[in-house]
Amino acid sequence: MRYGVPSQKQIFLKGMAGEKPLVPVHYKKLEELAESKLSAEAYAYIAGGAGAGDTMRANREAFGRYRLQAQMMRSVSEVDIGVTILGKTYKTPLLAAPIGVLELAHREADAGVAKACSRLDIPMIFSNQASVDMETCASRMKDQPRWFQLYWSKSDELVHSFVKRAEKCGCEAIVVTLDTTSLGWRPMDLDLAYLPFLRAMGLAQYSSDPVFQSIVEQNLQDPSSEKPDSPAVNLTTLRNIIRLSHHYPGGFFKNLTSKRALTAVRTFIDIYMRPELRWNDLHRLREMTRLPIWIKGVHVPDDVEKALDSGVSGVIVSNHGGRQIDGGMAALDALDQIAERYKKKIPILFDSGIRTGADVIKALALGADGVLIGRPYVYGLSIAGAAGAEAVFRFLLAEIELQLSLMGIFRIRDLSRENIIRI
Ligand code: FNR
Repeated sequence: MRYGVPSQKQIFLKGMAGEKPLVPVHYKKLEELAESKLSAEAYAYIAGGAGAGDTMRANREAFGRYRLQAQMMRSVSEVDIGVTILGKTYKTPLLAAPIGVLELAHREADAGVAKACSRLDIPMIFSNQASVDMETCASRMKDQPRWFQLYWSKSDELVHSFVKRAEKCGCEAIVVTLDTTSLGWRPMDLDLAYLPFLRAMGLAQYSSDPVFQSIVEQNLQDPSSEKPDSPAVNLTTLRNIIRLSHHYPGGFFKNLTSKRALTAVRTFIDIYMRPELRWNDLHRLREMTRLPIWIKGVHVPDDVEKALDSGVSGVIVSNHGGRQIDGGMAALDALDQIAERYKKKIPILFDSGIRTGADVIKALALGADGVLIGRPYVYGLSIAGAAGAEAVFRFLLAEIELQLSLMGIFRIRDLSRENIIRI
């Protein structure tokens, strides 16, 4: 066992010398400690969900309705937690979900997560809204697996540029997130009137992109691109413009005097979403790249049918951690329905609500080929940077190994619906 017994032993032995784990192992405590380290705005952005938070709650409640079944006198000391996804073997069933604006959590941001993932052979999915550009993250990962998540922009030229950059920096797949054609209604962010993108945060893939830069230059030359709905100019606005000019690459004075940073943010707001995206558009992406295309944000079996007709290689059952649609169904229930019909017809990944190793095992028993971890690693990052994110992944892997051993399962890929019941 690589993680299970060794991690447990190490924690208890260090405890003899009065040392506690680097980050809390218990999820509730992990979130609480992270909250105490984060600004109110950062915590709201990370923890918040859409509307009254019903989908977010449903995600968690669903895990309580599915129960694992263990057979006794079969316990094993060696378990294999490797999975095969699209013919490639990965050492663990975990992937790091694409999470935007990680600089809100910690200054190491995406680079810290890249380091943590590399140490554990966990594929990192670079977010379209990253705080560190994909080239920098890839350079920290050597030949460790990484994927790129795309928000389909209004500019196809920009989409093309992102995809080509992802190919060049060794990404193994493109994940198109479908559920964010606009931001969900998120009361925690709205009450603080805070959106990080307006402060030039989470724009690293854009500010490092030649196509985006040329669109910004065009807009700088075109006074009609100035919007009439600009905020009133007062001391706070000025302070924010100064911060934004500091934050955006290219030099503070140049940014401030040329209005480049402000124009870049406006340009981003104008082009980053494409609500009119339709299934047919995926064929265009298919022509742009030979990389496998995954779609993220699928909830209903009918959409998997459409995906199969659109040249998509795999689907990620997800409701964005309950951040988009409120009152939606639990992601795990969606997985149950989808996997029942489509397991073995198309690779299936899952996220939204996973907090423990047992949750991972439930998702795999229902039919997922692997899972994406979201908020938990962000909280680890918030508490202790790369080492904190790594600890969160390590604890999950330890729990998975121990649970499987206790359930009498030698190989995680042997999990099936026989190991789970719905109560
Ligand atoms: C996200 N998620 C997300 N998804 C995506 O495709 N691109 C992105 O840039 C982001 N950004 C993002 C930021 C933050 C702060 C959160 C919490 C989530 C969604 C993410 O990939 C994943 O679907 C959810 O995090 C899964 O839910 P849980 O497990 O975190 O509750």
